[in-house]
Amino acid sequence: MYTQLEQRGMPEPPVNVGTLRNMKEAGEKIACLTAYDASFAVLVDAAGTDLVLVGDSLGMVIQGHDTTVPVTVNDIIYHCRSVARGLRRAFLVADMPFMSYTEPGLALDNAVRLMQEGGAMMVKLEGGEGQIEIVEHLARHDIPVCAHLGLKPQSVHKIGGFKVQGREPDKAAEMIATARRLQDAGADVVLLECVPNEVGKAVTAQLSVPVIGIGAGPDVDGQILVLYDVLGITRGRTPRFVRNFQAEHPTPLEALRAYVKAVKDREYPAPEHCFS
Ligand code: KIV
Repeated sequence: MYTQLEQRGMPEPPVNVGTLRNMKEAGEKIACLTAYDASFAVLVDAAGTDLVLVGDSLGMVIQGHDTTVPVTVNDIIYHCRSVARGLRRAFLVADMPFMSYTEPGLALDNAVRLMQEGGAMMVKLEGGEGQIEIVEHLARHDIPVCAHLGLKPQSVHKIGGFKVQGREPDKAAEMIATARRLQDAGADVVLLECVPNEVGKAVTAQLSVPVIGIGAGPDVDGQILVLYDVLGITRGRTPRFVRNFQAEHPTPLEALRAYVKAVKDREYPAPEHCFS
């Protein structure tokens, strides 16, 4: 009965939360990318990406906004559905957009929509101490959750810009403690954005769940980048952690394969992509 779910005609079974945990334990780096449509989802999957995120970054790279704040649940569902059709092996995660998880009941309703209508296998929310109750509520209903810490782009207007987080010792200690509490609340994955290498390393060492980084240094369990940054088609100034793999390769598929290989071989991120 479960054969199709496990194999889908692939030589390797699709990635699930257990696969991600095993990769952490085995020390195999987890290669992750964002995607927003079916055509790129096929390429990202064929390149060997383990986890694909339909990020609310779509507000910036697809819709042309300056921030992720205008993105809605319906936007994520539309793109997630398209991406789901293109994937075979990769694990599909959908972002919960701005203000879609302010109360446990609202968060559960929206997470259910992202899974049932969008085809997501996990939801990601930007979390701190204030979201522990939400993570607990989702986990109690067996919704797989990724908690996003560090730079939280949905809070850009409160923070006053896209800035590295956790540079001061007290802020770093607070972030490490919050990551532990989010794991204890039921988070299955933690994502760290724009933090010094030392914070990425400490959080990864202290958690049993996989830690995925974007600008979080080389010592996290996996790396994620925005697809359009990897392909060099993002407008404007790119952050320090971005590497344009397309610049070195003739086709998008080869560029994506090179990204996955660089993550697996620990060649990306290099010191010039890190904050310390
Ligand atoms: O929305 C997004 O694409 C993200 C990544 C930056 C991790 O959250």
